[in-house]
Amino acid sequence: MADAARVICASDALPERGKGVRFTVEYQGETRAAFAIRYGGKVCAYLNSCAHVAVELDWLEGEFFDHSKLYLICATHGATYEPDSGHCVLGPCRGKSLVALPVAERGGEVILVAEGRIDHV
Ligand code: FES
Repeated sequence: MADAARVICASDALPERGKGVRFTVEYQGETRAAFAIRYGGKVCAYLNSCAHVAVELDWLEGEFFDHSKLYLICATHGATYEPDSGHCVLGPCRGKSLVALPVAERGGEVILVAEGRIDHV
């Protein structure tokens, strides 16, 4: 399990409220699906696992935003999440949250920070 930062993608691969980038991450001893999006200029990343039932959110590969581009939405039953907090504001898991992952931007790249220590996020 790596403990160093890992490059997810180039910064310009994440347009504001646009298509997200999928990646995998080691989390609690398992390789899990994850994704990153940009909202309000900031990159946010989460496990790609709905807080309702553990299925992936995107309705087409990399498509996480709803039609308004203001929220992330789960394709299965429509749980609606704030993009910058991962908090579910509407749907069957209202009040729960996506599992956030620590990311940063450095030198034009999006970095997953300290992958080996994110089990406690
Ligand atoms: S599985 Fe996501 S809303 Fe039900």
